[in-house]
Amino acid sequence: MACRLVLRLLLFAVLLSVPVGLAAQEEGGGGGGSALGVTVGKLQTDEQKRGDAIFHKNCHLCHIATAQKRELKINANELVGLFKRPNINEQAVRQLIQNGIPKRMPAFTYNFTAAEVDDLVAYLKIR
Ligand code: HEC
Repeated sequence: MACRLVLRLLLFAVLLSVPVGLAAQEEGGGGGGSALGVTVGKLQTDEQKRGDAIFHKNCHLCHIATAQKRELKINANELVGLFKRPNINEQAVRQLIQNGIPKRMPAFTYNFTAAEVDDLVAYLKIR
């Protein structure tokens, strides 16, 4: 029984990944959606592109969900549409990145230059 379910899920995953793979090829890797199904606005400026790289290097461990992380309930908010929330403001997001959240998220004060934080914020605005 369980084995059949796994097979079905695998088949489903394969079927799902085909159109995603095609779409990624059409886009030529120039921004747009990610392989994990998160809808991200198009990367246009250099700032956004650098921010995207910084995000995927430093934040994905917690902020990009995988099926496994979801199942284990260990993924943090995916931060999609963060800046579309009515109560969010840039200053608070910058502070949160610098200071982290005690026992939950590391502080990045010593990791990024001011320009890198600008890039990250520019990216988060279109994520
Ligand atoms: C070790 C895990 C971890 C890493 C790495 C991490 N975060 Fe977080 N982050 C958390 C947790 C846990 C929370 C609070 C719970 C939640 O919002 O899901 C959080 C919350 C946030 C929030 C507030 C979310 C909200 O819904 O209000 C923002 C913004 C944020 N993180 C940005 C970042 C950025 C940008 C990076 C990379 C520079 C990063 N985080 C790296 C774990 C992490």
